Amino acid sequence: MALPDRENTVPRHIAIIMDGNGRWAKQRGLPRTAGHKAGAEAFRRIANYCRTLGVRYLTVYAFSTENWKRSEEEVSGIMKLLGIYLKEALRDMEKNHVRFCFFGDLSRLSPELRKLCLEATERSGEYHEVQVNFCLNYGGRDEILRAARSFAADVAAGKHTPDDLTEAVFSEYLDSAGVPDPELVIRPSGEMRTSNFLPWQTVYSEFVFMNVLWPDFGPRDLDQAIEEYRRRNRRFGGA
Ligand code: FPP
Repeated sequence: MALPDRENTVPRHIAIIMDGNGRWAKQRGLPRTAGHKAGAEAFRRIANYCRTLGVRYLTVYAFSTENWKRSEEEVSGIMKLLGIYLKEALRDMEKNHVRFCFFGDLSRLSPELRKLCLEATERSGEYHEVQVNFCLNYGGRDEILRAARSFAADVAAGKHTPDDLTEAVFSEYLDSAGVPDPELVIRPSGEMRTSNFLPWQTVYSEFVFMNVLWPDFGPRDLDQAIEEYRRRNRRFGGA
């Protein structure tokens, strides 16, 4: 028997907090950077799988505004993995047709990594099939503050009046401008908090918290999260 339409639905936009890399490494007696390396592999697997499922937007929390508190070795390890991934993505761009976007304040990244981010954004801008949004030096409160400052600057420049500010107008000042809100947010690793991830965009998202550590996260876990999402009754504040 065919399932009703809603139950067959794959979310258009999935957002993931890639958590548990450190614990995965610790369980194996490995350095934390080995956990991040395995986490980058898990990301590759899941990004490919999302594509086969027809997910249109995938947003991942790769580095938060708070992650700078970690050791210099760990921070540079994560940045290096991102650089390797972006170089690969630039190399394969014509084949994969993935559009890349970056949420967060890129000004604090190294000039080399920033350049790769800008190049990936520019060169992939024409692709519309699949979009990967990397949250890098991203914090939801920071994003809202930066958006508020930009809007205030436009008011000062006479481009807007304060009364112009609606939810739709403000959304256009966010890093996620033009991207629909995620229907589903997944946090693996057993932690049950949102950690400054997309606070504006996720007010009506469905959250699925899972016990698997991110480096072990595979297609079956994503299927399970989507199944859980399909069971939810989304009312958006209605009765
Ligand atoms: C959270 O786990 C993970 C991060 C802060 C970094 C995530 C980065 C990657 C997966 C690599 C990025 C590269 C690509 C190509 C996506 P944690 O370290 O806080 O884990 P723990 O809570 O177990 O310590």
